[in-house]
Amino acid sequence: MGAVYTPEEARTSGQKELLSLSDFLLAELEQADEYFFGVPMHNVGVPSVLKLWIDQITRVGKTFSYVDGRPKSLIIGKRATFIIATGGIYDSQTQIPSFNFVESYLRSLFGFLGLTDVTFLTTGGTMALNHGQDREAFLAPHLEAVQFNAQTA
Ligand SMILES: Cc1cc2nc3c(=O)[nH]c(=O)nc-3n(C[C@H](O)[C@H](O)[C@H](O)COP(=O)(O)O)c2cc1C
Repeated sequence: MGAVYTPEEARTSGQKELLSLSDFLLAELEQADEYFFGVPMHNVGVPSVLKLWIDQITRVGKTFSYVDGRPKSLIIGKRATFIIATGGIYDSQTQIPSFNFVESYLRSLFGFLGLTDVTFLTTGGTMALNHGQDREAFLAPHLEAVQFNAQTA
């Protein structure tokens, strides 16, 4: 955090080294026009490895800033598709919907960074595959949704 909050021109070589992974990941984000994320639900949230990546790319002066004390998004003109898989189904008949933090977290975080052109496609109930559900039959409607989304994008 010390390196992040030190102005770029004043950073030591050690601070630059500390930020090199973050810089690399931010350059990847900048180069791409469109993002695709495959996100399994882990313990009602996003997997820890995705959270670690988010911690590297959520960077003041790069993907957000503060202007007059108000947050300003710096990811401009990109779109993203999130394909989410959950073992349970989070509707009112099954698991508690408020326990599904994946979509709300990703929507809030990326919205804060400026990514508002987002599509969420969720495949719920994948645990049925562990109990004998036919894989092709299970996946068919979800693959169709992905293809439909790709055609209409
Ligand atoms: C560590 C771990 C935690 C999980 N936690 C949840 C959970 O809280 N709720 C849920 O519905 N499914 C949970 N699952 C099941 C996954 O969301 C499910 O298997 C999903 O299909 C993962 O995508 P994948 O099969 O592509 O890995 C968990 C799986 C793992 C490995």
